[in-house]
Amino acid sequence: MKMSRRVENLPPYLFVEISQKIAEKRAKGEDVVSFGIGDPDIPTPPHIIDRLCQAAQDRANHRYPETEGLPELRQAIAGWYKSRFGVSLDANLEVLPLIGSKEGVAHIALCLIDPGDIALVPDPAYPVYSVSTMLAGGRPYYMPLTEQNNFLPDLDAIPDDVLRRAKLLWINYPNNPTGAVADLDFFNRVVRFAQQHDLAVCHDGPYTEVTFDGYQPVSFMQADGAKEIGVEFHSLSKSYNMTGWRVGMVVGNAKMIDALKRVKSNLDSGVPQAIQYAAIEALTGSQDCIEEHNAIYQKRRDLVIEMLNSIGIEAKPPKASFYIWAKVPKGYTSVDFATELLEKVGVVVTPGVGYGRGGEGYVRLSLTVPDAGVVKGLSRLASWRSTRSRLG
Ligand SMILES: Cc1ncc(COP(=O)(O)O)c(C=O)c1O
Repeated sequence: MKMSRRVENLPPYLFVEISQKIAEKRAKGEDVVSFGIGDPDIPTPPHIIDRLCQAAQDRANHRYPETEGLPELRQAIAGWYKSRFGVSLDANLEVLPLIGSKEGVAHIALCLIDPGDIALVPDPAYPVYSVSTMLAGGRPYYMPLTEQNNFLPDLDAIPDDVLRRAKLLWINYPNNPTGAVADLDFFNRVVRFAQQHDLAVCHDGPYTEVTFDGYQPVSFMQADGAKEIGVEFHSLSKSYNMTGWRVGMVVGNAKMIDALKRVKSNLDSGVPQAIQYAAIEALTGSQDCIEEHNAIYQKRRDLVIEMLNSIGIEAKPPKASFYIWAKVPKGYTSVDFATELLEKVGVVVTPGVGYGRGGEGYVRLSLTVPDAGVVKGLSRLASWRSTRSRLG
C-alpha cells in the first residue's frame, strides 16, 4: 500500500516522539519527571464536571450535535468575550465552537490556502500552523521570533515577493513556546499590515487566562478592524484544565467563520453536547478557579526560574502562559541537552528545535507538573550540573 505524498512528507508530531521515549523509560522501571507537554495536571473544577455528568444523563445529549454548536454555547462564548475583553460578537455569525482549538487551527488552512499559496508562520511556533499549511498544499514562510524582537515577528522584514503570494498570517500571544506577550499596539500594527497586503490573520490565543503578577493580556479582537481581516482561536483547555474534553472556539470575521463551518460540517459532527454544557458552565460560572490555578503555576514558575538560574541556565520569568523558554548551556544543541537531561537525570524538557529552526538554542519547560514532581525535577536538575558532559 502506498500512502499519499501528503502523509509521507508529514513529520511525526513532536509530542508523540517525546511520549514514546517517556513510555520506554517507564516500561524499564525508570522514574521520569516530565516538564514536556503543556497539559494541566490540576483537574477540571468540580462545578464543571458536575454539569457534564448531569448533561450526560440527558438523552437529548446522546445524539449528534450540530456543527455550529448549541446557540446557548455560542451566546456564552460571546458573553465571555464581552465581559472579559469588552469585545462584541454576533453569536450566530462570528462565533464557532471547536473540538478543541487544535482542530480549528488545523482546518482553517483548508479555507484559505490553495496549492502554492504561502502562510506566514512564526518560528518557533506551535507546529500545527505549518503542518496544516503543508497539508493544504501551501508553503509556510517562517518569520523568526528572536529575543532581540521580544519574540514578535518583524513584519517589515518579509520580502515583497513572499507577501504577494501570502494569504494568511499566523500569530500567537501569549506565546507558545517562548512565553512572550504582545500588546494592543502590536495587534493594531498587524491589522494595518494585513489590510495593506490583503492577508487573513489567525490569532491563536489559548493562554490569555494563564497570567502572572497581575498581567492582563489583550485579545486580538480588541484591535481596530480586527474582525474585518481575522479571527481568534481560543480554548477551554488551558483556562479550565479541560484538555481532555476537547472544546474550544474561534471568533471574529464572519466570512472566515462561515468557511470553517462549511469545511467542518463536511468533516465532523461538532462538540458532543454534554461537553458543550460543561463549556457553558465553565464560561458563565465562577471564574475563581482561574486565579487559583495561576497562583499554583506562579509558585512553580518562580521555583523553576530560580533553580535554572542557579545552575547557570538563563531563563526569564514569563508574564503569561505556563511555559519557560530556557537557553541551552553552551556546547549543546537543544536536542543534545534534552537527551542528556533525560538519560542522566530522568527529566524531560522539550528541545526548542521541535518548534522550528528558530527554537534552536532553547528548551521549553512546562509548569503543568504536580508540585511534588517540580521539587523532584528541580533537585535532579541541580544534580545534572555535577554530571554535565560538556563544558561551555
Ligand atoms: C498555541 C496553542 N494553540 C492551540 C493549542 C491546542 O489546544 P486545544 O486543542 O487543547 O484547545 C495548543 C495546545 O497546546 C497551543 O499551545
